[in-house]
Amino acid sequence: MTHESEKPAVQPSSFTFRANTRLVVGEGSVAELGDVAQELGGTRVLIVSDAGVLAAGHTSAGVASLKASGFETTVFSEFTENPTTRQVEAGTAFAKAFEPDLIVGLGGGSSMDCAKGINFLLCCGGKMEDYQGRGTTGLPLLPSIGCPTTAGTGSETQSFALISDAQTGEKLACGDPNAAFRVAILDPCLTVTQPTRVTALTGIDALSHALESHVSTKATPASRVFSREAWTLLTKNLPDVFRNPTDIRARSAVQLGAAWAGLAIENAMLGAAHGAANPLTARFKVAHGQAVGLMLPHIIRFNG
Ligand SMILES: [Fe+2]
Repeated sequence: MTHESEKPAVQPSSFTFRANTRLVVGEGSVAELGDVAQELGGTRVLIVSDAGVLAAGHTSAGVASLKASGFETTVFSEFTENPTTRQVEAGTAFAKAFEPDLIVGLGGGSSMDCAKGINFLLCCGGKMEDYQGRGTTGLPLLPSIGCPTTAGTGSETQSFALISDAQTGEKLACGDPNAAFRVAILDPCLTVTQPTRVTALTGIDALSHALESHVSTKATPASRVFSREAWTLLTKNLPDVFRNPTDIRARSAVQLGAAWAGLAIENAMLGAAHGAANPLTARFKVAHGQAVGLMLPHIIRFNG
């Protein structure tokens, strides 16, 4: 007979926990991109970075590390916030001409999702619509690395790419374990150059990821560990980031919070706040974090 005090704090239930991505965390860790890429093999790297990230100089830091490790590189940047199916198809044509054996998504959620989308179409053909839902087909995708420059999306630690239908604006959630980055490099220095508005909107998005994944009907004891830790890191450190945008310690904590929230999403999915927000982005071009921030209080009241 088990004594009362020996009972586990959390009653075990039946669940699985997915974690596809190795993390490399630390100030200046983008310089390790070349070494990390060497571990994955290959010689030719397609880097997917949006124009803003290119202008901020972050992409060149990644390129320098890859070149120092002997890689040939090329950069695709012809896409917008909320990349569309058409832009992913253009990126795939660009990639086919270069014939990469490794893909790096270096930027915010749009860059990382676009990189995953290109990986799907380059390796498996078809259209993004073909990959909606969580695939279990063991598709032979290229190995890939994610380097987030925002702290919000969580794309760095989950296997989904969110790509907007070029016709309707509807967000297609396309997932496969092989589409997840093999490695994510979390360098807080890459997040310092974000405009304050981007820091705010991506922070709201990450907070919502932590909250929605925690109350999701698919949440598990393991996913809630990451939801709770994400919530703690984000709520304690976002105020410091706003007080001092160059506070690397706070930036790093927020970046890690966003990554943990992404891992929680990978296992528990999201909820009604994102469900209600996505049409606002599709129809009225409201920024994702703003749309989520608008909807979240109403959803909390509705559920409460
Ligand atoms: Fe989100």
